[in-house]
Amino acid sequence: MADTLNYDTLVKEIEDLVKEKNCGPILIRLSWHDAGVFSSGALSGGCPNAAMRFTDAGEGTFGANAGLPTVALTLLKPVTEKYAETGFISHADLWALSANVATKVMGGPDVPTRFGRPDAKESSESVESQVGRLPDGDKGVVHLRDIFHPKGFDDKDIVALSGAHTVGKCHAERSGFEGAWTEDHLKFDNTYFTHLLSKKYEAETTAKGNPQLRCPVSGTMMLTTDMALLEDEAFKVHVERYAADQDAFFSDYVKAWVKLQENGCKDLREKL
Ligand code: HEM
Repeated sequence: MADTLNYDTLVKEIEDLVKEKNCGPILIRLSWHDAGVFSSGALSGGCPNAAMRFTDAGEGTFGANAGLPTVALTLLKPVTEKYAETGFISHADLWALSANVATKVMGGPDVPTRFGRPDAKESSESVESQVGRLPDGDKGVVHLRDIFHPKGFDDKDIVALSGAHTVGKCHAERSGFEGAWTEDHLKFDNTYFTHLLSKKYEAETTAKGNPQLRCPVSGTMMLTTDMALLEDEAFKVHVERYAADQDAFFSDYVKAWVKLQENGCKDLREKL
């Protein structure tokens, strides 16, 4: 069987999966939360190593990752069994590649993937805690900078990366937030930014007791962290630029996203 595996069939199988299951957004979130634990501040270390696949302890049990070890990895299972469990690609590289293929399938930019992320062998190779590493949706401007600046991201990068919320949904049973940021949650474009600037949002509390915002006209939502991008002029200038210019968003997004996916990695290769 191993001799039938090659890079092109892998990419094709991820594309087919994303189209069949409409699972592009959760594959992006999987890669982001795998890589997003990295920090070079007071909390150091963390790298994309697929530690979330262990659910006895560590990253696979973090509240911030709810839905990833279960829903995302179940969706990815057929590809994982064929390509990662046979050693053709590491799990962490597969998650990075899957997010990038998903982004393209949904109409987003071409994102180059490099390879060579080693996999955690057990849950103890997780970072110790999500606190200070992964963001909370009910916080504001200071929290965004506290989380993202120690990962090497500036204010522009924070705004560009937040633009990934143009796809996907919040799920009550995962994060406790509810709803989609845009009407077409499977299209990767700059609608997140045009919505932020043009829609009127009202505060609400979800059934799980979480504060968020919703536009009563379109029914689309925003997290407190999304609205924070309008509160600080250093963020808002980029929201305005990306709302007016999708190419600028795509170009800045790719730079920030590749950096995110490669933070904490060593000796990555251009080819699998
Ligand atoms: C800026 C701080 C951020 C906060 C507070 C945040 C928070 C959240 C929350 C609460 C959800 C809902 C999860 C669920 O209930 O299923 C979510 C979903 C999502 N996030 Fe973020 N996020 C942030 C940044 C990012 C970044 C940097 C990316 C990628 C570049 C990203 C990509 C996504 C995607 C694609 C989804 C949709 C997942 C799905 O549909 O299943 N987020 N985020």
